[in-house]
Amino acid sequence: MLDVVVLASGRGSNFAALLAAQRRGELPIRIRALLSDKTAAPALDIARDAGIPAIALAPADFADRAAFDHALFARAAIFEPGLIVLAGYMRVIDDSVIEDWRGRIVNIHPSLLPKYPGLRTHVRALEAGDPTHGASVHFVTAQLDGGPVIARVEMPILPGDTPRALAARLLPLEHRLLVASVDLIARQRITLGEDGVKFDGEPLAAPLQLQADGTWRAVG
Ligand code: GAR
Repeated sequence: MLDVVVLASGRGSNFAALLAAQRRGELPIRIRALLSDKTAAPALDIARDAGIPAIALAPADFADRAAFDHALFARAAIFEPGLIVLAGYMRVIDDSVIEDWRGRIVNIHPSLLPKYPGLRTHVRALEAGDPTHGASVHFVTAQLDGGPVIARVEMPILPGDTPRALAARLLPLEHRLLVASVDLIARQRITLGEDGVKFDGEPLAAPLQLQADGTWRAVG
């Protein structure tokens, strides 16, 4: 069993998806705690309802970004997680903290990285006239949304799509991508070494692609 701590800033639907998969016995993980930078995040209520420690710290109570991040990750470390999952965690994390967790922290991002790091990903995909859009799970490094990509899920952009429609259609795919990616990490099929991501012990040349039937396709 892999001990996992989840960080979320808002709604918490990706966190809820991990929790549901764990409860169905489909994921060899134990979610130990939910941490947030927002004291009113709905994700905290999901954790409390599930009997999982729910901890929020307010950045305004700390001198600067580094002080806040060190405090938050010190709380996370109490639970001795083998993996920290950023599931809708909307703050940039200080480099000094990220370094300590290299290879043990992943993020889900609503774009086909390396396209559209940062915010407004659905708007940007539409404005660019992209034929497809999607989500990515990647190892977190000091570079914002720039760490090695583990896996992606892709879907078509349809005529008449709006940012809201794209977000709504992508969300259930995000949930499946996050659960399936955490599963690979929990089973040690995906690892991050000095020389990059490995999948079943071999260098991962390109991100894995989650198929509609739940299987992975290696591309590239
Ligand atoms: C998700 O769409 C996630 O990909 C995105 O925030 C949403 C959180 O939803 N994350 C980012 O934009 C990170 N840069 P949720 O709270 O319902 O899981």
